Amino acid sequence: MEHQALYRRFRPKTFDEVIGQDHIVTTLKNQIVSNQISHAYLFSGTRGTGKTSIAKIFAKAINCTEPQNGIACGKCPACIALNNPDNLDIIEIDAASNNGVDNIRDIKESVIYPPTISKYKVYIIDEVHMLSESAFNALLKTLEEPPTYVVFILATTEVHKLPQTILSRCIRFDFKLVSIETLVGQLQKIFDQVGVKYEEEALKLIASLGEGSVRDTLSIAESCITFSNNNITYDSVTEITGITSKDALATICEYIITRDCTNLLSYLKALADKGKNFGQLNRDLVNFVRDISIIKNCNNAQSLLSMPDDIYSRCQAIAQSCDNAILIKIMSRLSSLEQEFRYTTDSRALFEINVLGLLNDEDRIEKLEQRIKALESKIISGDCP
Ligand SMILES: Nc1ncnc2c1ncn2[C@@H]1O[C@H](COP(=O)(O)OP(=O)(O)O)[C@@H](O)[C@H]1O
Ligand SMILES: [Mg+2]
Ligand SMILES: [Zn+2]
Repeated sequence: MEHQALYRRFRPKTFDEVIGQDHIVTTLKNQIVSNQISHAYLFSGTRGTGKTSIAKIFAKAINCTEPQNGIACGKCPACIALNNPDNLDIIEIDAASNNGVDNIRDIKESVIYPPTISKYKVYIIDEVHMLSESAFNALLKTLEEPPTYVVFILATTEVHKLPQTILSRCIRFDFKLVSIETLVGQLQKIFDQVGVKYEEEALKLIASLGEGSVRDTLSIAESCITFSNNNITYDSVTEITGITSKDALATICEYIITRDCTNLLSYLKALADKGKNFGQLNRDLVNFVRDISIIKNCNNAQSLLSMPDDIYSRCQAIAQSCDNAILIKIMSRLSSLEQEFRYTTDSRALFEINVLGLLNDEDRIEKLEQRIKALESKIISGDCP
């Protein structure tokens, strides 16, 4: 069988298969039930959250002659005809590659022909923010007075690039980033279906790396399947994705907090020898220290963070061993480096200098504190000259 990417193979075909966008799915189904279809929809949101998938599902559902609670029946002549990708009534246009005024003129000309087999002729214009200014103007005219049988669904990841005139003519739906919990559920379902074994914690890690995009999550999952011999462990995910393991981050963090310069430097050398990318390490460390501060300051930290139990207890110990000031200092100093990593030719040196800077800063403050304490006790004991 031809190999098909996971995210293509698992493109939702019905509203029931869509995850994490309940607010949108419910509204769209209600519009179908009450027969209140608008003429222009705008789907905005991060890539891989379901805009194109839902546009296609909706385009079919509004044409179904026997919809059940807003869901296409799949059996009526309209459903059968529209399931054929060559049908003439659902027209998908990728504005990234068709962004000129001529492309929109083509649409304007075809809009005058009624649908061939169904009730509505649906134009799905993906990446609509890519249209040129004159193309937007041409589109606007069509959006202003479309024939009754025409429905436009515009989709974009960058809604701020759309002119107000377009925005004001559409019903807008903002797609949400999908929660880790929901993504884990989806991964579980898919892994079970394709017959892959996995550790629970590996699922959470993959889901958190996907950062709310289902598509990105599935792409990461796919490389994990390919490279981990059908048994996806937490460690294999850290290795495949190149993120620094929590174990290594905890070690570095402990050395910084205890100001153990010698061990810190030799540990970093060992990582460098393994080919570690220090820009990535820097980013991972900032996130890790943020996790530590969440553990230090939130009661429900364990449910907020996806960490294996053993690492979680180690992080808890780190959180207890230091105060908020040092955590804030690490985060602010290292996160401000983000830009510099782009331009430096020696990212290891950049990282080391700044980490050592953190240790020294602390030293100075501690020495100052000691001097203040000494002065205070002298004042109290009346020993002051
Ligand atoms: N809400 C979702 N529910 C289920 N799968 C999704 C969802 N969003 C994205 N996907 C997965 O990602 C792939 C790409 O989704 P797509 O609808 O093209 O996203 P977008 O248009 O927002 O970039 C789909 O084929 C599917 O595998
Ligand atoms: Mg899309
Ligand atoms: Zn039908």
